[in-house]
Amino acid sequence: MKYKNILTATNNGIATITINRPSKLNALNIETIDELHHALNISDKDKSIKVIVVTGSGDKAFVAGADISEFADFDIEEGKELAANGQDVLFNFIENLSTPVIAAVNGFALGGGLELAMACHFRVASDNAKMGLPEVSLGVIPGYGGTQRLPQLVGKGRAMEMIMTAGMIDANTAKEYGLVNHVTTQEELLPLAEKIASKIMRNSTVAIAAAIKAINANFKDGKDGYQVEIKQFGKCFGTDDFHEGTTAFLEKRKAEFPGK
Ligand code: COA
Repeated sequence: MKYKNILTATNNGIATITINRPSKLNALNIETIDELHHALNISDKDKSIKVIVVTGSGDKAFVAGADISEFADFDIEEGKELAANGQDVLFNFIENLSTPVIAAVNGFALGGGLELAMACHFRVASDNAKMGLPEVSLGVIPGYGGTQRLPQLVGKGRAMEMIMTAGMIDANTAKEYGLVNHVTTQEELLPLAEKIASKIMRNSTVAIAAAIKAINANFKDGKDGYQVEIKQFGKCFGTDDFHEGTTAFLEKRKAEFPGK
């Protein structure tokens, strides 16, 4: 697939996917959502890629939301379909990937942009970042999982206030809320994401994939996360990575995980 709206680069086991519509502050149109799905899927299946970083191009925005020009004249059914497709193709899809996905939030992350960052496994931000879910100011609500993931990350009261006021919070407030893990300068943002990625890469990819499944189960209705943890824990005992990790520890050497 030839991409029009995203850039992809791979270096030392890290795939960086950059949303690249700077003139529209990287707003997510349907085409960009499809391209992101495609690039993420390829990276997730590529065994040489251990971590995926998602960021925005330019120095102003991560993603300033879903592309408002695409849905301004939608009716009820089209609105429902927009949210359902988007959640399926991109937002739930990212959350359930086996490869860790870090959002490097480098400016405005609004509406669908913050929803995208929240669907990633965790977030780091530059000090100029501004985050919010301003949908009610447009007469709509967040539709790409924002009403669910924001309270999971910041708590119900803060999510209610952010969504009801349609306001933006700055990077340090986002850190205080637990919405982002680290704040740094814009220049240091990708190096920081890469530094964290390199720590992740030292560990077993199959164990990390199992941990993602177990952690996500905590946030899924009708799933008993403890049972998922027991199942995933047990599965790890059948992997070569487990054998290598425990053997290396007992032999007092660094593990060389085969990744299976
Ligand atoms: N959808 C479509 N286009 C968008 C967009 C979005 N979510 N966000 C920004 N853009 C476009 C603008 O229309 C403008 O395009 P133009 O130059 O062709 O007119 C361009 O990006 C630059 O945005 P602009 O508003 O001129 O920049 P700004 O610095 O004055 O303001 C924001 C920045 C982020 C405050 C403002 O763009 C904004 O409020 N965007 C919408 C945020 C939003 O409501 N997101 C949720 C959508 S569900």
